[in-house]
Amino acid sequence: MLDIQLCAASVFGDTLDGRNLSTAFEDGFRRHPSLSAGERAVVREICYEGLRSLGLLEAQLAKLLLTPVRHTGLRSLLLVALAQLQFTRAKPYAIVDHAVRAAERLGQPAARGLVNAVLRNFLRRQHDLRRDAWTTPEARLGFPAWWVQKLREQYPDDWEAIITTENLHPPMTLRVNRRRTTVPNYLDLLREARIDARHLGDMAVRIDPRPVAEVPGFADGLVSVQDAGAQWGARLLDVADGQRVLDACAAPGGKTGHLLELADLDLVSLDNDAGRLVRIRENLNRLGASATLTCADAGEPGTWWDGRPFQRILLDAPCSASGVARRHPDIRWNRRPSDLAKLAARQAALLDGVWQVLESSGKLLYATCSVFREENESIVEAFVARNPEARIAQFQPGAPEGGRIRPDDDSDGFFYALLEKR
Ligand SMILES: C[S@@+](CC[C@H](N)C(=O)[O-])C[C@H]1O[C@@H](n2cnc3c(N)ncnc32)[C@H](O)[C@@H]1O
Repeated sequence: MLDIQLCAASVFGDTLDGRNLSTAFEDGFRRHPSLSAGERAVVREICYEGLRSLGLLEAQLAKLLLTPVRHTGLRSLLLVALAQLQFTRAKPYAIVDHAVRAAERLGQPAARGLVNAVLRNFLRRQHDLRRDAWTTPEARLGFPAWWVQKLREQYPDDWEAIITTENLHPPMTLRVNRRRTTVPNYLDLLREARIDARHLGDMAVRIDPRPVAEVPGFADGLVSVQDAGAQWGARLLDVADGQRVLDACAAPGGKTGHLLELADLDLVSLDNDAGRLVRIRENLNRLGASATLTCADAGEPGTWWDGRPFQRILLDAPCSASGVARRHPDIRWNRRPSDLAKLAARQAALLDGVWQVLESSGKLLYATCSVFREENESIVEAFVARNPEARIAQFQPGAPEGGRIRPDDDSDGFFYALLEKR
């Protein structure tokens, strides 16, 4: 357990320093190479659960300390141990004992007594500490106060439901590849493999989360992993065989793959991150599909465009990811309110850039996985106001109302707007 605790503390520390959670896991596992696959899964569980409840853990730790602990590693270790004591079934005495030894391994032997006292004090007073900590919104709701305030303003009727959903474990949803099988046939395959499944509509099938290697037919391209809300993207772009299409922010290729399942397209998949572009290639190989992959800044068409206009463009813009917060519990703590204005400026610039390469009468789908108005309606309304040749087009019947998908048990939060060039 010692290595599990140390690894989880290093992931926590890196995340609290503002690093992205997946990079923090990669680095944590590199620093602790002896961890087995099962132990890595435990580290992930502690970190996901702990980060979702970070507001509660911080409030409890503040009550247990006379002065704040400045050493990041030590503070992270205490937070991890508090998470283990509350959210895992490990024996409390073992958690405390290992945390004391972990303090030494962190080069803080003088803090052994402090770690021991804090954790034992927690065990003695845990009932009161749990009750008292609920007083802050961060502890009660698991989100920073500014985030909660914004949701309250923008979703006066739904904000609590959104927060509840964003604190749940995310679903695992598959997109059945219509070129290789059908939903009923794939459901039969799942039944044979004794995997419980639920058809969510169109090609989306929800199953209990498991590694992709255990998903029947995944390696053969029968299915891809894609949230039900994300599956609206390619469908709303309204593509047809033979069209020249741009997927402007394409990596890791979820929507690129879906577009190619829907129609035979001349598809350019662009992303400015070369490392992430490799993931598109892997996904397309698995699906047996092909596209032209380009590494470039979509907002600067002068650097990559060959002058042939596109009939359809998908702009799945980089955003706060506030609609997928349950999949990335670090995001809520590391984002700042001022990030929204910076992201909005980037989104508007990308929209301006790719609009230039859309043919007249062509359609562009603007998409984000954000629930915040600043990155969604505000971007599209301002764009239409400054571009007289742009108009907001109607979605097909049955599409999400207003292009907004509120996060719920079966779907992440997304926003879509279809723009037409007159
Ligand atoms: C929301 S993700 C796209 C997800 C993808 N559409 C999918 O369905 O799998 C946003 C992507 O935009 C890329 N990106 C960010 N800024 C960009 C830019 N200026 N030009 C091109 N791609 C960019 C990021 O590297 C990231 O891969």
